[in-house]
Amino acid sequence: MSLRRPLIAGNWKMYKTASEAALLAREIRQGVEEALRERDVVLAPPFTSLRAVAEAVRGSGIGLAAQNMHHEVEGAFTGEISPVMLKDAGCSHVILGHSERRQLFGETDEGVARKAQAAFAHGLTPIVCVGETLTERESSRTMEVVERQTERALRGLTADQVAALVLAYEPVWAIGTGKVATPAQAQEVHAFIRRLLDRSHGEPAAAALRILYGGSVKPDNIASLMAQADIDGALVGGASLKADSFLQIVHYPKA
Ligand code: PGA
Repeated sequence: MSLRRPLIAGNWKMYKTASEAALLAREIRQGVEEALRERDVVLAPPFTSLRAVAEAVRGSGIGLAAQNMHHEVEGAFTGEISPVMLKDAGCSHVILGHSERRQLFGETDEGVARKAQAAFAHGLTPIVCVGETLTERESSRTMEVVERQTERALRGLTADQVAALVLAYEPVWAIGTGKVATPAQAQEVHAFIRRLLDRSHGEPAAAALRILYGGSVKPDNIASLMAQADIDGALVGGASLKADSFLQIVHYPKA
């Protein structure tokens, strides 16, 4: 079990209109009041639902995340959303470098690094995603890929920023597939990431940083994942779209 405060984040991807999102957020709010004393909860609805969810969770202590952003404050960037706009919409966090953005929308490590710096500059906590594909795992390149993504994405951040940041290890082969990494597989990568950051940003930052696991997290596998020393929470996709399954994950029993 980790010593850091657990964080359970729901990534709603491209699901839920504003009214559907507000309804789900209210149901979640009702169910997490007690849990928030010892656990953090963050919801990441689509851009168009941010404001409705911000209103639904106002004053509850639940965090609000966007799923992406542009690094500039404003400009001629059709279709993009800036950190200032996310703050204004009520966001506390922003997911950066999700594998779907990397694979489908050309997101690069360098882009993630620029966005992570911009997030901090505007008072948003980045949730930076890293993780290997199935081919990379099968050719024993998991650590090399995770090392490259982590180092490049966090380049330029101070030790204090690394301490405050959230990383999410999401093996691409486990996302939306129902194939979860075993607790031992996840723990191995989480511990590796923490050692990397110990070397690059110092022990206090590495010890404070929260590393979430993501990829087919469900009510029946969360407890065994959370029992690992370096797993500090979860980034949940599919199972975060229903209050019942998300609340069960938030309330995982302690080992
Ligand atoms: P999943 O998605 O829980 O549906 O596998 C996780 C994610 O993409 O963050």
